[in-house]
Amino acid sequence: MAWTDYSTAPAPGTRICAAARITAVHPLTVTTERGSFPILVLRDGATIRAYVNACPHQYLPLDYRGTNLLSADGTKLLCTAHGASFDKTTGQAITGADCGLDQVPVEQIGDDLVIAA
Ligand code: FES
Repeated sequence: MAWTDYSTAPAPGTRICAAARITAVHPLTVTTERGSFPILVLRDGATIRAYVNACPHQYLPLDYRGTNLLSADGTKLLCTAHGASFDKTTGQAITGADCGLDQVPVEQIGDDLVIAA
């Protein structure tokens, strides 16, 4: 499933938050005209990445049962429901899920992080 297949997928240019706010892994919600879109935004060095905050195992948010969303070595995103893990740079499943996270294109414009075209 692509992120644009979600009924509440935000339009390109939609503001997510201030880019400076992103210092680690942050589950956020973007409010659109069609409802709420769950997004997981993380800083990876100078890069900011984003995924739909829905584990492909049961479509629960990765922070469903806690806030510790990174592996001890910092390379994997973790689902707190059943422990699936995903490569934080690609979203590909490593353990516990058959498919990966849906990446959402984002970019910084001025001080804001927005949905990219
Ligand atoms: S809901 Fe995420 S591993 Fe089951």
